[in-house]
Amino acid sequence: MQRRDFVLGALGASALSYLAPTLAAMAAGGEPIPYGTCIRTDPLFGDPAYQKAVLDYCQVVGSEGNLKWGDLRPDRHTFNFEQADQLMAFAEEHGLEMRGHTLAWYGAMPDWTNEIASADEARLELTSHIRSVVGRYKGRIKSWDVVNEPLADHPKPGDLIRESVWQKYLGADYIELALRTAAETDPEAQLVINDYDIEQATDRGRARRKALLDLLRDLLDRGVPLHAVGIQGHLHGAVPIDSSGLTSFVAEVKAMGLAILVTELDVIDNELPADIAERDAAVAECARQFLAAIGAAARPERVLTWGITDQHTWVPIWFSRGDGLPNRPLPLDADFKPKPLMDVIQEFTHSFS
Ligand code: XIL
Repeated sequence: MQRRDFVLGALGASALSYLAPTLAAMAAGGEPIPYGTCIRTDPLFGDPAYQKAVLDYCQVVGSEGNLKWGDLRPDRHTFNFEQADQLMAFAEEHGLEMRGHTLAWYGAMPDWTNEIASADEARLELTSHIRSVVGRYKGRIKSWDVVNEPLADHPKPGDLIRESVWQKYLGADYIELALRTAAETDPEAQLVINDYDIEQATDRGRARRKALLDLLRDLLDRGVPLHAVGIQGHLHGAVPIDSSGLTSFVAEVKAMGLAILVTELDVIDNELPADIAERDAAVAECARQFLAAIGAAARPERVLTWGITDQHTWVPIWFSRGDGLPNRPLPLDADFKPKPLMDVIQEFTHSFS
């Protein structure tokens, strides 16, 4: 028996209401929050140092691209599960949990989906894709980013949902359709809506938080199956975080009965100082504020970064530095040495235990 079971058992349930928050937290779990990263399969199976880092630090993995339409669906009639299967097998072999990312997104769509030309066709393609993919990993992938980035980049009244082939033909109803289809296919899976830029202290950040809360409320009011919100956490190091706004957002999500996950944390450092010590400290502090603001309202169920080493990161695709220096957005440097960001993550994930 673990010590907390003993303590709680001896005190009896009625005593719980008198206990300090630490014991209440212990009753709610007491384990550190599982940490993980999205994976690129090339280095995972090609670079022992990358694989070692994943095994040393992670309890959860996701795929950076292998479960997206672009990778899975070379043409309308084909599914290519090879890479995703390899990652799933790796996760199972090493006792890691695997998250699914993603089923309905505007990005990484294969060209053939531009041929979709009617609501019926869109409905058929979306539902058959979800049935095949969720069905294949049923009971093994227990948490899915069903809908990724549904919000318009700058949501405005009457223009809340981002354009995609799904939105074009089905309107906002594609979100409900995706969630219901995923729930029918694997009733045990945790179904997540995942989005970005909801932590910023800007009008746009406020608009995005409000739009997401309105979307969630509407779905839940209509009985649509939905269990959690993924806060991506692609933080912009030079944009202030709205700590109180983020805490209230998380509190409202929690009050709706939804769980919170941090799904894609990294710190975009293109506007941070060149000096490495200074930059790494700013990156860590930005993530600390972000995590603290979330943790003030809820214990996120998982914390994942979008990559684990600065050697393999999407950040330079969009946010390379003007001075030509490599980006440093992730918890390990390009030589797999832990940076201050890793300390922040470990401190946070252990602060609930
Ligand atoms: C990115 C990948 O990291 C890139 O390798 C790929 O080319 C494009 O997609 N938000 C998301 C992720 O939800 O799926 C994106 O991943 C990064 C932003």
